[in-house]
Amino acid sequence: MGQVYKIAVLPGDGIGREVIPEATRLIREAILPTSDLTLEIHEFECGGEYFLRTGLEWSKEAENFTKTKADAILLGGIGARGPDGTTVRRSDGNLAGYSVVIGLRQELELYANVRPVKLYEGVPTPLAEKGPKDIDMVIIRENTEGLYYPARGRVKETDREFAYDLRLITAKGSERVARYAFELARNRMGAPVDKVKRVTCVDKSNLLAGCQLFRESFDKIGGEYTDIAKDYAYVDAWTLLVLRKPEHYDVIVAPNAFGDIISDLGGALQGGLGVAPSSNIGNTHAVFEPVHGSAPDIAGTSKANPIASLLSTAMMFEWIGKKHNDETPIKIARQLRGSIEEVLREGKIRTPDLCVGKWSRVKPSTTKQVTDAIIQKMAR
Ligand code: NAI
Repeated sequence: MGQVYKIAVLPGDGIGREVIPEATRLIREAILPTSDLTLEIHEFECGGEYFLRTGLEWSKEAENFTKTKADAILLGGIGARGPDGTTVRRSDGNLAGYSVVIGLRQELELYANVRPVKLYEGVPTPLAEKGPKDIDMVIIRENTEGLYYPARGRVKETDREFAYDLRLITAKGSERVARYAFELARNRMGAPVDKVKRVTCVDKSNLLAGCQLFRESFDKIGGEYTDIAKDYAYVDAWTLLVLRKPEHYDVIVAPNAFGDIISDLGGALQGGLGVAPSSNIGNTHAVFEPVHGSAPDIAGTSKANPIASLLSTAMMFEWIGKKHNDETPIKIARQLRGSIEEVLREGKIRTPDLCVGKWSRVKPSTTKQVTDAIIQKMAR
């Protein structure tokens, strides 16, 4: 028997509790019976709804297993509304579930937030003249420091009130995420427009000291990758450039908050949050999660698109396979992605978020029906 992989599954809140169970169902129904992969699924409650019931963000058992025993972590959206309709928060004002969604990134040093922006055939993009052959990039966001580093506060004086968010950027943090981006580019096929392997540094180094250090670190590490083209854009200009010419971009690396913002723009280009996967990668641990949150507006309606979670699951298998030098999970990742691609291309089974544009006449399917269609493709 090969290695036993232990997966911590944390569905979270709202639609997280609908789409993540679809990923585990697919693993149980379509992957485990047909491969020699040995995998244990350990599922735990966590997030705002759990906090409302118990006063805790997750149990000690869940925290301990996730941090010390799991080979990989699959996470859903976090964020619940309380009885008064407002977001459930901890006593320190942070979102209930913060320890899970942000805390894990800090504690496990998951320094690279990886967001593939690939437009699949059969998925509508808001860019009228662009198609799948033009949009295939990966945005890497620095994930542990920058503007989201937890050093912030508010001060109230007699005649004024102000707030501050310290934007901490280190050479170490910048260099390791730059290295991740160059390594990734080396293993990709290059930008759609010219097949040149290219890493673009997106920052605001004309103004900000942290971005100057980020760009210097990018150049220092980039010097070791003579086979990869280096490219630069200021973040404000990049938002315009990517709409005009998305096919120029292959891998993009950016400091934390800028990366967060530009990757949501990327999510729109690839057809919306329903199909946007992500991972948070460190040297030893990794968390895989859809980009979207708990979507309380559609929770409980069977309208949630499971594809973002299923693509994140494919990323998980690929990461496990590469880390353990095991071909089986890599093959599973390929099959899963291929099955999702096929269902999207056929265009008949899709949740309402994808029934727009030329697919607006398609009768919307439920979350489960979409997973079922993908499971059927996996079986073939
Ligand atoms: P959201 O991502 O939950 O939803 C934004 C919009 O996209 C909504 O209209 C929603 O219906 C739609 N949407 C999202 N995922 C979808 C899917 N799989 N299929 C179809 N439509 C989908 O962001 P929102 O509404 O700003 O936040 C809701 C809660 O989620 C908040 O508490 C927020 O803090 C939390 N959140 C958590 C994240 C995480 O855990 N990583 C990320 C983003 C938000």
